[in-house]
Amino acid sequence: MKVKSAVFPVAGMGTRMLPATKAIPKEMVTLIDKPLIQYAVEEALNGGIERIIFVTGRTKKSMEDHFDRDPALEQALEEAGKQKLLEEVNRISDMCDVVYVRQKEQKGLGHAVLCAKDIVGNDPFAVILPDDIILSKGSVIGEMAKEYERTKAPVISIMRVPMDQTHKYGIVEVKEQESERLFRLGNMVEKPKENAPSDLAIIGRYVLTPDIMDELEKTGEGAGNEIQLTDAIKTIADERGVYGYEFEGKRFDCGNMDGLIEATVNFALEREDTREGILKTIRELNLS
Ligand code: UTP
Repeated sequence: MKVKSAVFPVAGMGTRMLPATKAIPKEMVTLIDKPLIQYAVEEALNGGIERIIFVTGRTKKSMEDHFDRDPALEQALEEAGKQKLLEEVNRISDMCDVVYVRQKEQKGLGHAVLCAKDIVGNDPFAVILPDDIILSKGSVIGEMAKEYERTKAPVISIMRVPMDQTHKYGIVEVKEQESERLFRLGNMVEKPKENAPSDLAIIGRYVLTPDIMDELEKTGEGAGNEIQLTDAIKTIADERGVYGYEFEGKRFDCGNMDGLIEATVNFALEREDTREGILKTIRELNLS
């Protein structure tokens, strides 16, 4: 079965990005000229996803507006003859149909995913955390969906991190390497203080099977009194197997300022229309 839906848990508070996120959701913070959420949605659509599900909270109206039509703006651009901008604005609102569900209490990522239970139904689905932005040639979630179609088991994205940074991530134990990029996983430890089982960290892209919802319902509140997605995935790994996909590309944690700055420089260097400008700025700074 194909992976057609993607759940975007976007109900978090974004405290690490304050004051930027006081009045706007962190997913609307811009990376060059697009909000983070648009990068994540484009990755999903490029990967063959057809249905976008936002699990939102109270302050997320601007995100809904971003993917909606804006007749007044369209008319103004039309009248001003700004055809290119008009096309871009229309492209975004025509991009996808979005389904919204509200997470009424912030009980963690696992709880946010559980809020989409009735919408995803009995099908496999993707989960994308929009503050993890990936600079890559193809759609990472699309590549993971293909691995799911082959293995019929959940696939989570992993990347290598320096051993002295493992305490910042969920770290997986590898049981077996299946192919160059695919690993059968064993234990998973959230932010290990010592003895991390590997240097492979879980990143915000998942392809999950609907049985995860039953696990999430059973999973009690874990670290920080939140329902942890990792705990439920770990149970499935124990019972029937979960795969880790080591994607090709650079990932940036745009949920904090350092990550956003790093992403801005890297994306600017990658884009034709911004590359020369950023190179000139760096050169003129004369950094040694
Ligand atoms: P984070 O751990 O980044 O939390 O959530 P946060 O609240 O968004 O940000 P900080 O730490 O306060 O700065 C990881 C993902 O899970 C979502 C967030 O929106 C983000 O995409 N999330 C988290 C929810 O949707 N609901 C929650 O209750 C918690």
